[in-house]
Amino acid sequence: MLRSVAGQGEGGPLYEQVAAHVAGLIGKGTLRAGQRVPSVRRLSEQLDVSISTVLEAYRQLEVRGLIEARPQSGYYVRPDYLRRPHSGTTPPEPATRRLPLEPAPVECADRVMRVMLAARQRDLVPLGAAVPAPEFLPTAELGRHLARAARTFAAETTSYDFPPGSLALRQQVALRLIEAGLACGAEDVLITSGSTEAMMLALKAVTRPGDTVAVESPTYYGLLPLLEALGLEAVEVCTNPRTGMCVESLEALLARGPAVKVVVLMPSGHNPLGGIMPDEHKERIADLLGARGIAVIEDDTYGELAFQPRRPRCLKAFDRHGGAILCGSFSKTLAPGYRVGWIVPGKFRPEVQKLKLVLSLATASPTQQAVADYLASGAFERHLRRLRRVYQDQLALLAEGVARHFPEGTRATRPVGGHLLWVELPEGCDALALHDQALAEGVSIAPGPIFSATGRFGNCLRLNGAVLWSPAVDHALAVLGRLIRRQLG
Ligand SMILES: Cc1ncc(COP(=O)(O)O)c(C=O)c1O
Repeated sequence: MLRSVAGQGEGGPLYEQVAAHVAGLIGKGTLRAGQRVPSVRRLSEQLDVSISTVLEAYRQLEVRGLIEARPQSGYYVRPDYLRRPHSGTTPPEPATRRLPLEPAPVECADRVMRVMLAARQRDLVPLGAAVPAPEFLPTAELGRHLARAARTFAAETTSYDFPPGSLALRQQVALRLIEAGLACGAEDVLITSGSTEAMMLALKAVTRPGDTVAVESPTYYGLLPLLEALGLEAVEVCTNPRTGMCVESLEALLARGPAVKVVVLMPSGHNPLGGIMPDEHKERIADLLGARGIAVIEDDTYGELAFQPRRPRCLKAFDRHGGAILCGSFSKTLAPGYRVGWIVPGKFRPEVQKLKLVLSLATASPTQQAVADYLASGAFERHLRRLRRVYQDQLALLAEGVARHFPEGTRATRPVGGHLLWVELPEGCDALALHDQALAEGVSIAPGPIFSATGRFGNCLRLNGAVLWSPAVDHALAVLGRLIRRQLG
């Protein structure tokens, strides 16, 4: 009986008594951080309660942050660091500055590549690249779907899956986009090798060399080498950490030229700022561009990772002119190495489909099948709910760490989605130099200038929060703090 084991009195639902019993074991240190708690079946037998009672108790403990579910492995006591009550002390937010709105050729691929390659060095505390740690992803579960796909669809998975790609996956993507306010069918979706390829296809479909592209400032650094490779000019538009690209600045740019061919935006989860554009802004921008026949490419890579009950609506949902192209990916939610992304190209579909065939023939078949199978299993929604909580938690710890270790005058964003923190250091700091100094001490960061076509944000950096918080991460922030202070003299 529960009472005899746990020493609980009557009163309160049974699941609460079970939760209190397990919480007590954690509190006393009988179950320690990182340890597996008894399986649901075992505890139900031990305490003579039903499976559903134990499941509900574990759900309660998960919500309280005491334990976490690891797919196909069971429940574990969360590391002490994650259970530490948040101090709530975070740095103030960065300000947004108006920019001159002048187009310029993009010549930064070498700098971006150098930083990306340096981040591959072994044994780094990986605060640079926006790559989720494998422990946050349903790696084992996905692996089983991959094996099943290879077994069950041997012919399909060893053959080319020509554009538009797997029908089963396109159906699942279209289903998920209903939540984003988009009523599209499988026939509107094309599968790509990540959103990088989706963006390349979109840009190539709507531009010619020499055209001007309006981008957010700061923007995702992977976009800039694409612009450079296509011979495009970039004009940077100031971007608010909370609300995204400044609509007034965009209006001013369109009113007095130069001729902008396309605008690239991340309205539903910005990298690196972590903001979400309000629906009114999305609608204004969709109307503004649609009325002028200017295309918009929406990078929705973080769209499923907003810390709010409903997934944000995409800008394309407000597009009445058909000029919006939506690009997405499973890289931040499932597995970056699977290289599965998608594009909803709207009226540019024939051109995009042709380009996809010309440039890569097909996306790898086994991972398309595996992701389709995983999505159809219904596990994704549960995984996402947990992932958003984990990312939010990790970001809070990261921001507190920055407040603890970085010098006064440091500012940081308050992300409402994703897993990235943008940090503005006091004037006089050199983030590119800091990048090299930090690497030499085993810490990677993403320096601010790679997020700008013209090397702005010299005193800013981006930190990846999708790394399990640990004493090593805390120490890495202390190292950065020391290096920053040394720069300030
Ligand atoms: C905003 C944004 N877009 C696109 C990508 C590239 O994603 P994928 O792995 O799907 O090519 C990333 C990866 O960091 C990203 O942050």
